[in-house]
Amino acid sequence: MHDIIKDLNWRYATKKFDSSKNIKDEDFEVIKDSLRLVPTSYGLQPLKFIIVESPELRQELQTMSYNQSQIVDASHLIIICSYRDLNETHIDEYVANISSTRDVHEEMMKGYGDFMKLTISKMDDDQKFRWNKNQAYIALGQLIHTCATLKIDATPMEGFKAKDYDKLLGLRDQNLTASLVVPMGYRHEDDEAQHQKKVRKSQDDLFITA
Ligand SMILES: Cc1cc2nc3c(=O)[nH]c(=O)nc-3n(C[C@H](O)[C@H](O)[C@H](O)COP(=O)(O)O)c2cc1C
Repeated sequence: MHDIIKDLNWRYATKKFDSSKNIKDEDFEVIKDSLRLVPTSYGLQPLKFIIVESPELRQELQTMSYNQSQIVDASHLIIICSYRDLNETHIDEYVANISSTRDVHEEMMKGYGDFMKLTISKMDDDQKFRWNKNQAYIALGQLIHTCATLKIDATPMEGFKAKDYDKLLGLRDQNLTASLVVPMGYRHEDDEAQHQKKVRKSQDDLFITA
């Protein structure tokens, strides 16, 4: 079996973490780099990742997450936030980044910048909010896979009250909303979920040849 498939079978949505085990700094650097490299629509990266270190804050967040124990027991906790709004300044900043990264004059990028501005000008606030949120799910998928490759357990989570998170962390004022939460660390030996067989549709069910 290919290592990729072995890793994906190994991982599972961890229900109980061993709070005595911590992710090594060098592994967490890989996780951060992976999140930095996430592909997004047009490359705009309308995302921010909050690494919650404070145990007190984690406890408060747990109460806003249907008391799920992973929020406090996991070694690390990342909140994947997406932008609420996307405006012309964000596009200008992105164009400036392309220009300096690739050593291209900003004038050369004007057409691409105008094209992106036209695209976002056609979206209403709700569409932009949802579009940005979609990018968070791309980050989630990549994060989960990166963790599996490192043999780090992780739980993708949307079982939390985003409005309460936003309020507690002052996210609205920073043009952000909490989209997903991912506790990461090492499974507890008592976590029954690790022994359950994966339930997935068959390839025949999932693939259509056209
Ligand atoms: C977007 C998303 C949100 C999820 N939210 C939660 C959650 O709040 N709590 C939880 O324990 N599991 C959560 N899960 C885990 C899923 O239930 C789990 O991934 C799915 O049942 C497949 O099982 P597996 O990941 O163990 O293979 C979530 C998964 C995804 C992708």
